[in-house]
Amino acid sequence: MCGIVGYMGSSGVASILLSGLKCLEYRGYDSAGIAYINNGKLNVTKSAGKLENLEKLLTADRQSSLAFSGIGHTRWATHGVPNDLNAHPHLNADSSIAIVHNGIIENYAMLKEELESEGYKFNSDTDTEVIVHLLTKEYKKTNSILKAITNSVKKLVGSYALGIISSYQKDTIFAVNHHYSLTLGQGDNEFYLASDIVAVRQYTNKILRLEQSEIAEITQNQVRLYDFNGHETMREFITVDSDPYLINKDGYKHFLLKEIHEQPTILRQTIGKYMVHPNAKINFNQNNEPLTNAHTQEKSAGVHLSKNDIMGIENILIIACGTAYHAGMIGKYYLEQLCNVPVNVEIASEVRGRNLLVNEKSLVIAVSQSGETADTIAALSEAKRKGAYTLGITNRADSHLSRISSNLIITECGVEVSVAATKTYIAQVVSFLLFALYLAEERGSLTTSYINNLKLELHSLPALVETVLANETYIKEASIKYADAQDMVFIGRGINYPTALEGALKLKELSYIHASGYAAGELKHGPIAVLDSLVPVVTILMPGSVYDKTLSNAQEARARNAQMIAVACSDDEKAHKYFDTVLEVPPVDELLSPILAVIPLQLFSYFISDYLGKDVDQPRNLAKSVTVE
Ligand code: AGP
Repeated sequence: MCGIVGYMGSSGVASILLSGLKCLEYRGYDSAGIAYINNGKLNVTKSAGKLENLEKLLTADRQSSLAFSGIGHTRWATHGVPNDLNAHPHLNADSSIAIVHNGIIENYAMLKEELESEGYKFNSDTDTEVIVHLLTKEYKKTNSILKAITNSVKKLVGSYALGIISSYQKDTIFAVNHHYSLTLGQGDNEFYLASDIVAVRQYTNKILRLEQSEIAEITQNQVRLYDFNGHETMREFITVDSDPYLINKDGYKHFLLKEIHEQPTILRQTIGKYMVHPNAKINFNQNNEPLTNAHTQEKSAGVHLSKNDIMGIENILIIACGTAYHAGMIGKYYLEQLCNVPVNVEIASEVRGRNLLVNEKSLVIAVSQSGETADTIAALSEAKRKGAYTLGITNRADSHLSRISSNLIITECGVEVSVAATKTYIAQVVSFLLFALYLAEERGSLTTSYINNLKLELHSLPALVETVLANETYIKEASIKYADAQDMVFIGRGINYPTALEGALKLKELSYIHASGYAAGELKHGPIAVLDSLVPVVTILMPGSVYDKTLSNAQEARARNAQMIAVACSDDEKAHKYFDTVLEVPPVDELLSPILAVIPLQLFSYFISDYLGKDVDQPRNLAKSVTVE
């Protein structure tokens, strides 16, 4: 959450910082700002709202393009509303030090009281502002920015990253990382700083990631690293040889639509990578790659459990948030069905502060697109402490989650730019299925013919997703008919209960229409009270063990005059008879049905959102990477 950029070199700082912030806008877009030094003077330009507001201010501010060093920030508000005053960078009273900050300072209230009693005046409601005053106070004692930093970090509680610039040391910017992520990039006599490698990779492939508690002192010619006691540490920049992280819309109106359309390819790649042939055993370590690639510092995918480990697993806990949690719920279904092992799935933030009942016989699976979600990381770290086996499922090999997971499945979807997750969700779900099949093969919990049939079906899944996408025009027309709804209800049973939850979440995020997902059987236990002719009810009605019961639950809604929408198979006559709108998918094995059924729901939410003129790729109040607890 929030994004930091920095530059020290000989090019105009404004455009470089802006371009970096554009790459990081997914981390928050409540306000943005930069601080830079020109003619020895520290200047700050910032604005509430999206980056374009800052861009306009900078176009009018010629000085910013003449400066060669600066820091920048894009904000997702935690403390204080998104206005100009709370926007970063924050300046001290005499405009000599400015900082940008990611994360939360947990003891800020106490520090603020202390600083106020000493005469420091606060202008914002942020926790960040305590840092700039603390630095000022420590600078007055030490006459050194570095010492001011090492003294200050000893007083700060929480996880955070900082960018610091000061007119006391005009030729330097500082970066501080404490259990967050900051990456440096090296150019020709210039250095870049960013919260995400994506923002640095547009300029250079020479990178250096800051360690968990580390300070970087960056001048035009060198970077010096220090631990929090001020001792210098030595590390080299490394060359990243992977492709640059390309970000473009490929002609689509929105990233979201592009990412929805990438799903068949992603499924093909993921399935093909771990299951080279429908008759071959699933293998997560094909290339015998080392777990960590020493060259790129990125972790390679791999499951490193021995047969004994696998046979000894007595229970599995899945932890995740949001859409990844829904993927985890489907994962539970797969692992229980196919591997006969008890599985719990927990919202990561709900694990905190509880007695986590895992041990050396447990496998804990953390699922996170970004690999940076603070609650998920914290829960996984706790599980690790208790001796459980750990598996991370993430789209980012360079993430915090990747670094702390002993086993790793990388979903390899490419960067997901749209804040609403789509392609990473189906990649997580199919990864769970592949992992469950892998465990089932190792544990011998299923017959070979059952496994082989399922693998064959899995092999043809990407083509089925293509058939759903080909129906896009119909889905668009059908969806916008419901765009004036105030509330919508999504119901599903069994393996498609999570699909109902995900359908409701996508609609809420993208269109701001209130939507709730329920287990279809729960409707009559309360939620049915909200139904009337104004409320559309979306039923996930896929063939399989719970079809009849789901249809009965939908009839209960129909009897209350609800507007009836089904996601159902093209050949389902009952669906066509009882529902006003049918979003069709081809017939498929029940286990694979969540992957197909979610596609029309993604498009449904997309088209309603676009029709209503909402900000599809960056819905209000959200951020892509949720790095605060
Ligand atoms: C999904 O559309 C969301 N924006 C959100 O729920 C997301 O899935 C959640 O914040 C978890 O993020 P992660 O996968 O990066 O951990």
